[in-house]
Amino acid sequence: MNVLLIGSGGREHALAWKIANSSLLDALYVAPGNPGTLRHGRAAEVDPADHKALRAFLIEKRIRIVVVGPEGPLVDGLHDRIADDPKLEGITVIGPKAQGARLEGSKDFAKEFMFRHSIPTAAHRTFAKGQLQDALEHLDRVSAPYVVKADGLAAGKGVIITNDKKEAAKALRDMLQQGKFGEAGERVVIEQHLKGIECSAFLITDGESFKMLPAAKDYKRIGNGDAGPNTGGMGAVSPVHFADKDFMQKVHDRIAAPTIRGLRKDGIPYQGFIFIGLMNVGGEPYVIEYNVRLGDPEAEAILPRLKSDLLDLFEGVATGTLSERHIDVDDRTAVSVVLASEGYPGEYAKGKEISGLENVTDAYVFQAGTTLRNGKLVTNGGRVMAVTGMGKDLESAMASAYRAVERIAYTGKYHRDDIGADLRKQPAQRPAAVSR
Ligand code: AMP
Ligand code: GLY
Repeated sequence: MNVLLIGSGGREHALAWKIANSSLLDALYVAPGNPGTLRHGRAAEVDPADHKALRAFLIEKRIRIVVVGPEGPLVDGLHDRIADDPKLEGITVIGPKAQGARLEGSKDFAKEFMFRHSIPTAAHRTFAKGQLQDALEHLDRVSAPYVVKADGLAAGKGVIITNDKKEAAKALRDMLQQGKFGEAGERVVIEQHLKGIECSAFLITDGESFKMLPAAKDYKRIGNGDAGPNTGGMGAVSPVHFADKDFMQKVHDRIAAPTIRGLRKDGIPYQGFIFIGLMNVGGEPYVIEYNVRLGDPEAEAILPRLKSDLLDLFEGVATGTLSERHIDVDDRTAVSVVLASEGYPGEYAKGKEISGLENVTDAYVFQAGTTLRNGKLVTNGGRVMAVTGMGKDLESAMASAYRAVERIAYTGKYHRDDIGADLRKQPAQRPAAVSR
């Protein structure tokens, strides 16, 4: 089977590695990929947004499956363009059509969907352009902390959570009056604030049945102890002890199953991954958001735990036989630490030479913001790579990841030191001294 994978981050490197491990694979192409994905597949010189060029590529390379890593192309209708093209019949896209991608692309759409299908989530009201006054009055009726969200995709910057009503009101004015975030901010959602611990659940679906994948916790803030601004994600851990069997059963029954049923009832075909951002409120799961793809860096923690053949699962999606496939999970813990460029998520330098990857032998390195310059591997982005350690427990997985992190060097290397630390049930036990 020939596969085209779209994207260029650490998630896509992890996907490329996992796909390359499949016995069903003939050839893997990645557009555009990165130096890490080149170890597992060929670079595809094609712009997926250019449909004519994409069509020619898919036909020439006899691609059967197109796997879309990030949400952007899905929200833009990449899947629709392939499905609507009679010359591309028989190609399966892993990732929804534009309509299904609205689960991520529009917060209002996602909230209405959850409301319609009785899926637990924070109470909300949506306000459109011209309803600023109503929105401000609504703020007076609810209590702090205030949660204000731009409706559309705003690169993770469209969510404001504050105890300061003035700041919340300013966010409303910025979006509804000043056009901040452009179209994405033309509608805003004001939500009830949920208090609890966050984790992420993942599933894969063929639109009829679904399978849960391992859950993970993401570390979104740049600094140790969750300090500083939000990022794309600075690390991930899988599994998460507070997402225990009981909790995940509730996620399955109250959220995942009604989500798939709801999509069917609403006549929205859906093939691919769903990433459910959850708040665990005293043991009860609530949906914070849907994403229509795998998380980054969550994918770098969950894919190494997935023992099942990913292409076999994709084939299940393609043929509507996912229910017959089995998800086999490694019960070890995975800890993924993101190495970033100093300054990220603000300004940062690029082009710094990276060394030491060859010294990492017992952890995975998934490249993200890297490129080759004169044959040398150099930094080329804010998040440079994700280093995933595995271990029989959290402690040994953390040790494995951080050992590998120490072996990699480049100017301006930055990472959090505490990925996984908050999940320790008790302080690390020192090994008892052995006396003879
Ligand atoms: P989102 O882009 O919707 O995932 O929001 C970004 C982050 O804001 C989430 O990961 C949560 O940490 C936080 N957040 C969003 N909505 C809420 C809410 N209703 N209550 C508490 N925290 C929230
Ligand atoms: N790590 C969060 C995300 O991929 O959206």
